[in-house]
Amino acid sequence: MNRHLSYFTGKRVWITGASSGIGYALADALGGAGVATLVSARRRDRLDALAARHASISVLELDLADRDSIADAAARAWDMTGGIDVLINNAGISQRSAFVEAQPAALERVINVDLLGTMRLTQTVAARMVTVGSGHICAVTSVAAKIPTPQRTAYAAAKAGVHALFDAMRGELEPVGITVSLAVPGYVNTEISTHALTGTGAEHGVIDRNQATGRSAESCAGEILRGLAKRKREFYVSMAPRIWLGLALRRVAPGLLWKTLAKARIT
Ligand SMILES: NC(=O)c1ccc[n+]([C@@H]2O[C@H](COP(=O)([O-])OP(=O)(O)OC[C@H]3O[C@@H](n4cnc5c(N)ncnc54)[C@H](OP(=O)(O)O)[C@@H]3O)[C@@H](O)[C@H]2O)c1
Repeated sequence: MNRHLSYFTGKRVWITGASSGIGYALADALGGAGVATLVSARRRDRLDALAARHASISVLELDLADRDSIADAAARAWDMTGGIDVLINNAGISQRSAFVEAQPAALERVINVDLLGTMRLTQTVAARMVTVGSGHICAVTSVAAKIPTPQRTAYAAAKAGVHALFDAMRGELEPVGITVSLAVPGYVNTEISTHALTGTGAEHGVIDRNQATGRSAESCAGEILRGLAKRKREFYVSMAPRIWLGLALRRVAPGLLWKTLAKARIT
């Protein structure tokens, strides 16, 4: 077994957004190592197919947009597993729409799933971890939190919000034995752009170039599991040279970054 996977041995891991992409790859890697892994999302058939691959995987359907179901889901997760040691908030939806043209409901849905859904689930799970005095909570965010681009207004706001939430939470939870991690992906070849919401709330339906040419979900998952095993507070994964350049520009010449982004052709 890889050294980083041994960090998860004997732990019970809950992964949201495990029906495709990065979440699926995370669960597949952990399941392959025999780690007790609870997988959640809305598409039950995909989760069942994942569980059929590994005896250590169990399934709990979850819709993060359904605020009233989240506390019940956490209670069910505890019943099924006896307790969660590692929560990986990975589920998310993206956006492909100009701010002034988008219907407010389409923007709000992104915030509701990516920020509020993550916050509600994390709060419920963290409260239970506090009572046992240990645990590890991660969120998979995005470079959009660091370089907010046009057409991603609500998405960037949601992901930046998760950074603020987790950074603030860390000061409360680290002293009581809970590790708080932020994994920040660049570009990964997944369904994220396909399911991204347009201004009407319909799905974008296209695999965009940044995703098509991005890293594989498997390599991204490997980097995330390595970062968690090292208990890193914040770490980038699946980065491209142009993203590193953007991060550097934001620090040393932010005006140039904003001008470049305003001219860039972003779908
Ligand atoms: N791919 C990239 O380039 C990239 C870059 C930066 C950050 N990320 C982040 O990486 C994370 C994983 O995305 P991905 O790239 O693997 O895309 P993906 O293949 O589209 O996976 C997204 C997952 O989130 C789940 N999900 C969506 N809405 C949900 C809801 N209301 N309730 C529960 N689960 C929901 C989906 O499952 P169901 O549809 O079955 O519910 C799916 O399992 C996301 O947070 C995304 O923002 C991705």
